[in-house]
Amino acid sequence: MPPGLKGVAVTDTEIGDVRGLEGFYHYRQYSATDLAESRSLEDVWRLLLDGSLPADASARRAFQHEVRRQRSIPDPVRELLPGIAVTVRGAGPLDGLRTALSALGASEGFRPLWDVGAEERRRNLIRLIAVTPSLIAAIHRISHGLEPVEPDPELDHAANYLWMVSGSKPDPVPARAVEQYLILTVDHGFNSSTFTARVIASTGADAAAAVVGAIGALSGPLHGGAPSRALDTLDAIGRPDRAEAFLRNAISRGERIMGFGHAVYRTEDPRNAMLRRIAQQLGGELVDLAVEVEQTTLAVLADVKPDHPLYANVEFYAGVVMDRCGLPREMFTPTFAVSRVIGWCANIAEQAEQRQIIRPSARYVGPVPPQPVPPVQ
Ligand SMILES: CC(C)(COP(=O)(O)OP(=O)(O)OC[C@H]1O[C@@H](n2cnc3c(N)ncnc32)[C@H](O)[C@@H]1OP(=O)(O)O)[C@@H](O)C(=O)NCCC(=O)NCCS
Repeated sequence: MPPGLKGVAVTDTEIGDVRGLEGFYHYRQYSATDLAESRSLEDVWRLLLDGSLPADASARRAFQHEVRRQRSIPDPVRELLPGIAVTVRGAGPLDGLRTALSALGASEGFRPLWDVGAEERRRNLIRLIAVTPSLIAAIHRISHGLEPVEPDPELDHAANYLWMVSGSKPDPVPARAVEQYLILTVDHGFNSSTFTARVIASTGADAAAAVVGAIGALSGPLHGGAPSRALDTLDAIGRPDRAEAFLRNAISRGERIMGFGHAVYRTEDPRNAMLRRIAQQLGGELVDLAVEVEQTTLAVLADVKPDHPLYANVEFYAGVVMDRCGLPREMFTPTFAVSRVIGWCANIAEQAEQRQIIRPSARYVGPVPPQPVPPVQ
């Protein structure tokens, strides 16, 4: 087996796939970037969870109505939030989300997936997706000494998220930019956090347990923890003419350039291409710097790692777009969770249907057993 299970297909799925050599990925039968061009996040949510886009305006309204009613934070969890916000102050809202969703699953009596039917499972999954932005925004605001903002049922998922974070009604342009970012990151093949969610779901544990585990996997810098680091790199570079020396120094110290390279893509990441376009529509000095630094980084990486095709990944412009839309840096990875929880939940449902535990094995390479157990001294 290749290290890290790279390229190993561990299950069949109808949710989507990534074709790394072509630079293409899809949600069910549709190109994910086509969906991000023309559809709302709630449409894509329905596609992932229920298997189809809403057929008409009334189906769309019915789904919107159903999911918007599930946004409120329940009282037992609301009471915990000040304590959670203080406890995670240094770590940030993603750690707080992990704790709060764990409490929510328990307080709302989520039962093991093994024991529930499709309807109850779907209800639990919609609840987890709908409440995630509310929890992230509330923890963020409380940790900054602000009152949480109640969800607005008139606003769609992305605009409502911005509203709950900032407390002001978002302009349509940044709201759509964030919505497109969220659509682009809903799902992405068998990535580490999705695999984690499926492993936990495969044991028959409850849906909240599977999402909480996935959040842990997402938090790592090799997965979802890169966008703020990519922006930190842009800050450290500061001016385009400083980029080349900065990058060469970093690589010679054995560092990785955050926002570049990908486990699957061997050509341009299609999410990066679209996010660059969105960033350029938003405009600004930071965007101009990012475009120049991307070009310099590609040239430097091609020079120093000629055997590995390395391109910018989704994280490089994700931070730039979120920054231009007013989201603070500590909210970048939590915002990734706002969308990816939809992909996790679709995968949890699919895994639960399979009723098959994922239980691989490891090759033992330690001292030859059995050795005599030394006597107690
Ligand atoms: C995403 C990532 C983990 C994929 O890893 P991977 O496919 O396993 O790539 P590998 O670890 O096999 O790396 C292949 C080679 O390219 C180099 N490389 C990969 N990404 C690099 C980067 N961002 N900067 C510099 N070198 C990089 C590796 O050092 C390795 O070189 P070597 O063989 O000389 O040691 C990796 O590219 C990375 O760490 N990127 C930075 C973090 C990031 O942006 N994460 C968000 C992912 S969406």
